[in-house]
Amino acid sequence: MNGQDVEIDWDTARRANQQNWDDRVPLHEVAYGLDAFDDPSHLSDVVSDDLPVLRRFLPDGTLEGLDLCHLQCHIGTDTISLARSGAVVTGVDFSAPALHTAAALADRTGVSATWVETDVLDARAAVSGDFDVVYTSIGTICWLADLDRWAAQIHDLLRSGGTFFIRDGHPALLALDEEAPELTIRYPYFGDGRAQLWDDDSTYAGDGKVAHPRTYEWPHPLSEILGALLRAGLRLLHVDEGTTLPWRFSQRMVEVPRGFAWPEAERHLVPCTYTIVARKD
Ligand SMILES: C[S@@+](CC[C@H](N)C(=O)[O-])C[C@H]1O[C@@H](n2cnc3c(N)ncnc32)[C@H](O)[C@@H]1O
Repeated sequence: MNGQDVEIDWDTARRANQQNWDDRVPLHEVAYGLDAFDDPSHLSDVVSDDLPVLRRFLPDGTLEGLDLCHLQCHIGTDTISLARSGAVVTGVDFSAPALHTAAALADRTGVSATWVETDVLDARAAVSGDFDVVYTSIGTICWLADLDRWAAQIHDLLRSGGTFFIRDGHPALLALDEEAPELTIRYPYFGDGRAQLWDDDSTYAGDGKVAHPRTYEWPHPLSEILGALLRAGLRLLHVDEGTTLPWRFSQRMVEVPRGFAWPEAERHLVPCTYTIVARKD
């Protein structure tokens, strides 16, 4: 059943996903190590990895004073890290409990941020102002059916000259069998518009169970991601592929600094992440 392609309308799928994400919040509040953010110099691992790449494409090589919109900000750990790196941040997510936790963490740690509850596919209408940077990273577009609509939000949120950054699980990785004893393709790399159905009451961080285990994800090949950004009018500045990722996709993965990777002998065989930086001219 898990990973099976199904016909499902966006509203039904989105509602199921939202309930599942709402349920994950109390588990992630424990598992994400929020106390570490009481140290004002602490940054999340995801932002620590992304910043050196993002900075290379910023006008003065810094986020200092730039308006940044963080799409799918979850409980705010990356958003707060971006604020600590100098940005004026707006975090966007469709989970009210996630934003509640994010706002509480920001208040507790003295970080100023704006939080907006909306579907990311409606972000332009829901968020005030224009942005120098739109950022989204790790665990994002697999939850979205329509990448053209997603890319249009990004384009319209950016000012002219603004920069878009994404790093996420590589679609070639997501096509692999997470349970197989060797690298084996299990799921389609190319999407056909149908969702993959998952029933899983666990989450990637922490040991607790969620009350709403059913979720829907959409496979998006690299050509679809790049094509959506290009069709929206963005110019590609940088495309890269990485061999480590911040969650354990398979139990066969080994721990490496700030994440996980395939055993060394297999690491050159398949990418784990992609990174894209694009500009609105
Ligand atoms: C894996 S998390 C975000 C990643 C971030 N790196 C982190 O770990 O904090 C994915 C987030 O996407 C949000 N999300 C999923 N589908 C969404 C949608 N259609 N609109 C807005 N937010 C969505 C979820 O609520 C969740 O907070």
